[in-house]
Amino acid sequence: MKLSVIAPTFNERENIRALVEQVQDALPDMLYEIIIADDDSPDLTWQMAQEISARDPKVRVLRRTRNHGLGRAVMEGFTAAAGDIVACMDADLQHDPSVLPKMLEKLARGADVVIGSRYATGGSTGDWNWFRRLGSRLATMMARILLGVKLTDPMSGYFMMRRNDFLRVHPSLKGEGFKILLEVLVKLRPGAIEEVPYRFRRRLNGASKLSSKVVFQYVRQLWELAQLRQLLPARFIRFVLVGCTGIVVNLAAMALLLKLTDWRGWVASVVASLIANLNNYGLNNVWTFSDRAHRGFGLIKGYVSYLLMSTVGLGITTASYIGLAWTVAQFPLGKVDWNRLGIALFCQFLAIALGTFSNYILNKGVTWPGPARNDVHCAENLPFLNSGNTQTVAKAGFDCDPSSGQRPLL
Ligand code: GDD
Ligand code: MN
Repeated sequence: MKLSVIAPTFNERENIRALVEQVQDALPDMLYEIIIADDDSPDLTWQMAQEISARDPKVRVLRRTRNHGLGRAVMEGFTAAAGDIVACMDADLQHDPSVLPKMLEKLARGADVVIGSRYATGGSTGDWNWFRRLGSRLATMMARILLGVKLTDPMSGYFMMRRNDFLRVHPSLKGEGFKILLEVLVKLRPGAIEEVPYRFRRRLNGASKLSSKVVFQYVRQLWELAQLRQLLPARFIRFVLVGCTGIVVNLAAMALLLKLTDWRGWVASVVASLIANLNNYGLNNVWTFSDRAHRGFGLIKGYVSYLLMSTVGLGITTASYIGLAWTVAQFPLGKVDWNRLGIALFCQFLAIALGTFSNYILNKGVTWPGPARNDVHCAENLPFLNSGNTQTVAKAGFDCDPSSGQRPLL
């Protein structure tokens, strides 16, 4: 047995017969099996599949009565597969089976994961309406930015890999929602990913199951996976939230001081900022960096360090603003004033983001220095990682800075 094609199904009764035929046409001289992983469909897809299976031993059926969901069905299919190579393919014939041989060839030449791509040169999304096209583009872009995946179609539901690689990451997969491929890629960190273009075909029978719930699940999944790669570490999020409380404290202190004292405005402003700064230090100490919290006299030293680093952060914000505003000023912008205000605010917003991030990095390194980081290498440095003796260089892969291990990038 060489290849196992896993087709997850939910109400695809009208499609599976043609699916089985088209896979057969695509792989005339191949040893393969098709596993229909059906979630106990109300339209009795599983029953139809069992009838086909009775006549064609290459077809196997998993009737899944529990643990429903596309991703989990694929995982169960991959686990039950008898082939050394497993492929995941929609059952509604939107994934063109005729590219299966090309995918197999790439795998044989050393790729670890081969992905059917609608967006690689030569591929297409077929006759999608603009709304679906835009949605897919947005989702693809989010995956590329958040996960650093350099692929044209990371959202693909059409892919192939070695079963052993799957089994290795299986325990860490959740399989929620539609994005099983993204999860596999993030957990496996394959050294060599290849893409094969194909034309996404029109669905002839049945309906799509891509609901708003699936979209919501996708966004959550991206978020979890991104955290996993430490692109957006929870610690940084806590730091930003503390910064937000600082704004409130600052404004409240300013209001109180102006009401209760006869100080001049700028004096009240400086004192309010110092109070907010103290608030931020305290919260960061007990929450953001609770695992490295200062105690006793360490608090005084810590606060001084925090104040100094925050001043540097302020300097970086100001310098960034000046740099950005200068750069923008080099372009002719027309005469509209609100346009200029908008641009100034946009520059200031970017400057605040840069300042906050520097602030975070500085305080993390100086005020709350942690234990030395483990040097985790990127997949690209390990061409032998998953593929036995292959030496194929990654065509597509993960963005990652080899010198930094899993450093937060944001
Ligand atoms: N077992 C099981 N359980 N199968 C399911 C489930 C489920 O809960 N939901 C959907 N499927 C099956 C469908 O029966 C079909 O064979 C396949 O998964 C894809 O589902 P569709 O509902 O046809 O998805 P789509 O065509 O809208 O989405 C396609 O494009 C997406 C990217 O834009 C798929 O290829 C997705 O995988 C892909 O992410
Ligand atoms: Mn479909």
